Formats: sequence, structure tokens, C-alpha cells
Amino acid sequence: MKDDLKEIIFSEGDIEDRVKELGAQITMDYAGKSPLLIGVLKGCFVFLADISRHIDLACEIRFLTASSYGFSSVTSGKVKISKDHDYEIKERDVIIIEDILDSGVTLTALRDFIVERSPASLKICALLDKSARRQVPIEADYLGFECPDDFVVGYGLDYAERYRNLPFIAALKPEIYS
Ligand code: IMP
Ligand code: MG
Repeated sequence: MKDDLKEIIFSEGDIEDRVKELGAQITMDYAGKSPLLIGVLKGCFVFLADISRHIDLACEIRFLTASSYGFSSVTSGKVKISKDHDYEIKERDVIIIEDILDSGVTLTALRDFIVERSPASLKICALLDKSARRQVPIEADYLGFECPDDFVVGYGLDYAERYRNLPFIAALKPEIYS
């Protein structure tokens, strides 16, 4: 698996430190509230597990599935959204927990899906942002790191469902995905 990697971009330690800071920031900003954390499957699963343990609030954790890529490394432009089951979004303080913001197509569709359900507030927390690749204007309210324009894997992020279990974030060698 490691032979497929070009270089490590964010080490385990870098990620741990930044995730702790983000959790502390959310804890401060939402003092006295019980936010609803909605993780975007499947890429969020490691990030959500880690950040939620640094959010010192009575929060609820739910999931949504959004898929647009299939087994390709570029967005198809169409996003399919499904909720794990029927939970209330209305009047909740929602924080979307997403692995990476790339073209912005996925998060825009998710934001619209949630806004239609009348939350009290909505913020976006993304671990990575490849802002150079944005096609639609959308930004994270809480951001881990600005990410170089490489296809990255690890810490929940996959290519064709592999590499999610790497404890760091690395760029994949272009010959693997092209
Ligand atoms: P967007 O709709 O183009 O912003 O893409 C967001 C989704 O694409 C993320 O939730 C990821 O699942 C996936 N994605 C985008 N860039 C990468 C990457 O470099 N590695 C792995 N997945 C990615
Ligand atoms: Mg993916």
C-alpha cells in the first residue's frame, strides 16, 4: 500500500494537533448548546471519531451519505444524498463534518439539503480544503488544513475504497489513479 504513495502531506501528529484545536474552538463557539454533528460518509469516519472526542458538549452524532465520484478521481458533478434514518434537523444547530472540500459540489448539495429542513444554524467543518479546485463558491467555517492540489488519501479518505485506514494523509502517485 505504501508504494502507491508519493509523499506524506499531513502527519499523524499534525492532524492530531489541528483536530484538537478545532474541537476546542467548536466547544467554545457552541457553549450552552447541543449541536447536531452530521458526518458525511464515508470519508468523515476517522475525522468525526477524533474531533467529536474533543468537543466537550452534549452533542448528537448522525450521518448522511453523499456520493458523486464512484471509482473515479474527478467529480461527476451529480450528488446523491441519503440520510441514515429519519432524524430531526429542524431547529437544530447543525455542523456538517466533511473530510475534504474540493470542487464544492458535494457540500453545496448537502448545505441545500439541510437548509431545506430549517435548522436553527448551519456551519461546515472540513478537515481539508483544495481551494484551487473550487467550481462553486462555498467555504468551510472550521477548516483543518489548506490542501495542495494532489489526490490525497488516508485518515478516512479513499481512492476506490482503499487507503482509508492510513493514519496520515498522503498524496497518491498519479500513475495509481490516472
Ligand atoms: P467535491 O464535491 O468536489 O467538493 O468533492 C468532495 C468529495 O470528493 C469529498 O467528500 C471526497 O469524498 C471526495 N474527494 C475530493 N478530493 C479528494 C481527494 O483528494 N482524495 C479523496 N477523496 C476526495
Ligand atoms: Mg470518496
